[in-house]
Amino acid sequence: MTDAQEWPTRDLHRAAVTGGAGFVGQNLIRTLLADGLSVRSVDNRPAPPIPGVEAITADLQDPAAARDALADVDVVFHLAGNPSGTVSVQDPLFDFASNATVGINVLEAVRHHVGTRLLYLSSAMVYGRPETSPCEESDRCRPFYPYGASKLSVEHWLNSYVATYNIDASSARAFVVYGPGEDPRRAGAEVGQFLRWQLNGMRIQVVGDPETKVRDFVHVDDLSRGLLVAARAGRPGLVYNVGSGTRHSLRELIALIEAATGTTADVTVDRTDLTDSYALVADITRLRELGYEAQVPLADGIKQLADELGPAPAPPQLATVLTAEGR
Ligand SMILES: NC(=O)c1ccc[n+]([C@@H]2O[C@H](COP(=O)([O-])OP(=O)(O)OC[C@H]3O[C@@H](n4cnc5c(N)ncnc54)[C@H](O)[C@@H]3O)[C@@H](O)[C@H]2O)c1
Repeated sequence: MTDAQEWPTRDLHRAAVTGGAGFVGQNLIRTLLADGLSVRSVDNRPAPPIPGVEAITADLQDPAAARDALADVDVVFHLAGNPSGTVSVQDPLFDFASNATVGINVLEAVRHHVGTRLLYLSSAMVYGRPETSPCEESDRCRPFYPYGASKLSVEHWLNSYVATYNIDASSARAFVVYGPGEDPRRAGAEVGQFLRWQLNGMRIQVVGDPETKVRDFVHVDDLSRGLLVAARAGRPGLVYNVGSGTRHSLRELIALIEAATGTTADVTVDRTDLTDSYALVADITRLRELGYEAQVPLADGIKQLADELGPAPAPPQLATVLTAEGR
């Protein structure tokens, strides 16, 4: 039996979800409700109403607002922040404020509310360019985006709070998330981006090498289930990869999109910037030991998403920016 298995399962009834108005937040809230938890959504913009959910509008960059908004719950799922590497390249100070400052404010709130469990949603971008694939949680983290650095900084802060203040907190590293409810103005991940281009009869624009750019695409329902498993049974101070555990190159992704839509893709490939042409795939053994299993195969998830988006969804609006100047 490993360390990851030995922690007793927590009894969680009341949850707060920061970033509850966002893509992952909205889906996680539905998973929590279906599991019988009561849910409070905390966001700095109004959340689309979900019956039975208490919605609080608060800016978590304000420490007092964070403390108030996160009172009287058993568990905080901390998702709020800037989710975009591109935005972090364009505006690193905004990324720092959204991710690092908000992160420490949430930690301070949880320290104040003794006994509250915290599950922080970090990102696979903390690994940077992995030396091996799949990535294990103990692999070296060398983020190269400001976004990866800010997400990793909160993991370090969190672990220091576990050690220093004995808070009950763990981190989860999401891989490339896709599914219903992504805002095309804010999302730059390939599944939604490529599918929206394809459904509009537009050209799919690949940045990097479609063969060596390999990712672990995880459905947002699987991510949500994984976060709940980690919140219940995860060990304080440990980090858990949440992915599908499967690998697909961008070329394979495009083939699945063609199959799901029954149309042939018109693809352009820009190989001038190979900054992120590498394999980023999750080893999910640690979360599996707690009972997690990804349930949505990529082909099924794409088909389901294509049906939900319909024939002419809003096209993607966030270009991929890897470095400020490009290379
Ligand atoms: N989408 C992905 O592929 C992915 C992958 C890995 C990790 N993540 C992480 O998941 C989390 C959620 O991502 P998402 O895709 O749902 O993004 P999103 O932009 O849809 O949601 C983030 C939410 O946080 C809120 N927020 C931002 N700053 C805030 C503040 N100061 N106070 C209160 N609320 C604030 C936003 O209003 C937004 O509703 C992020 O932490 C991101 O780093 C996402």
